[in-house]
Amino acid sequence: MRILLTGGAGYIGSHTAVVLTQAGHEVVILDNFCNSQRSVLERLKSILGKGLLCIDVDVRNTASVSKALRDYQIDAVIHFAGLKAVGESVQNPLKYYANNVQGSISVLQAMQEVGIKTFVFSSSATVYGDPKYLPYDEDHPTQPMNPYGWTKLQVEEILHDLSKSDPQWKISCLRYFNPVGAHDSGLIGEDPNGIPNNLMPFISKVASGELPQLNIFGNDYLSKDGTGERDYIHVMDLADGHMAALDFLSNNSGWHAINLGTGVSTSVLELVEAFEGVIHKKLPKEFVERRPGDLPIYYAKVDKAKNTLGWEAKRSLQDMCRSSWDFKKKNLSPAQ
Ligand code: NAD
Ligand code: WQD
Repeated sequence: MRILLTGGAGYIGSHTAVVLTQAGHEVVILDNFCNSQRSVLERLKSILGKGLLCIDVDVRNTASVSKALRDYQIDAVIHFAGLKAVGESVQNPLKYYANNVQGSISVLQAMQEVGIKTFVFSSSATVYGDPKYLPYDEDHPTQPMNPYGWTKLQVEEILHDLSKSDPQWKISCLRYFNPVGAHDSGLIGEDPNGIPNNLMPFISKVASGELPQLNIFGNDYLSKDGTGERDYIHVMDLADGHMAALDFLSNNSGWHAINLGTGVSTSVLELVEAFEGVIHKKLPKEFVERRPGDLPIYYAKVDKAKNTLGWEAKRSLQDMCRSSWDFKKKNLSPAQ
């Protein structure tokens, strides 16, 4: 298949590009590099032994997206392109609705114009909001707690309406839990600028000495050890999940929301301990106030992915920590 990956230069997109290419698919990346580096393309070339086609364009440029779909005779689109910083979405909601919702509409309009109807969407567990029960299954009520989450839910709704209007559409909304880890080569991974918002990149920067200590947000939650619990999933498992979704859609039309997680709930302290086990040293850490807006615990029910996609996560917490650390060691800032 020829697959267009919008946002394919980003963290999850680049790992998915590797998995799809190595499985024999032809991948074209479309990205405006607002949150990724062009050097990712060279790194992908080193991993794959061949370069991937890349179009430097904003997804909101519908004419350019249509042209790409036509020029490269694309069969399916995986739409990763989006902004993902929850805090920034609260400060600047219009930026998020414009990029994530308008951007998705633009890609879908281009697809409709060209007659391509297979679409995989990067959704998020954040669409569920405050848990009414756990693990979240796909029928759990959806009530996002921030504008970022609403952009994901709104696009899901648009996709649902689209599939009802034309039964030929084949749509999968993949609700990712907490993606972490990196490709085994250590060449691609998650590399946020400055102080990371997310736990794993923060731990990596403490381990490398780029940050002095880990601040653990709260130790008085009603959780296994008082710290927050999440469902961390290895980014390579997530990438495999996208291929499974495309395989599934080749035989199934309609709209399908599917959780991609491990079904395992891990506390902050458990993740830190696993990381310390990998690097054979203790990390400086301190308990601080809860982070506003954080949920105490959430994790996925993964039966639907298993039953419909025939996919389940295989990699362990140690694999996630080891690959994150390998990536960090290969990508230390010049001062380190
Ligand atoms: P990322 O920021 O690393 O990758 C997103 C890519 O999209 C970047 O390369 C960026 O330059 C590009 N992009 C953004 N807006 C664009 C636009 N208007 N036109 C063209 N390109 C654009 O993020 P990621 O972690 O790889 O996430 C990929 C997708 O998965 C996002 O939609 C995100 O919301 C979603 N998601 C991520 C997580 C997570 O924790 N990483 C969890 C759930 C869902
Ligand atoms: C995990 C746990 C923190 C940093 C966010 C988005 C969500 C999704 C994934 C896209 C929590 C604790 C963290 C730190 C800490 N993205 N923590 N010290 O909050 O589950 O999800 O990313 O869809 O929408 O909200 O992930 O990695 O930020 O936090 O103690 O320095 O680690 O309190 O319990 P989160 P996270």
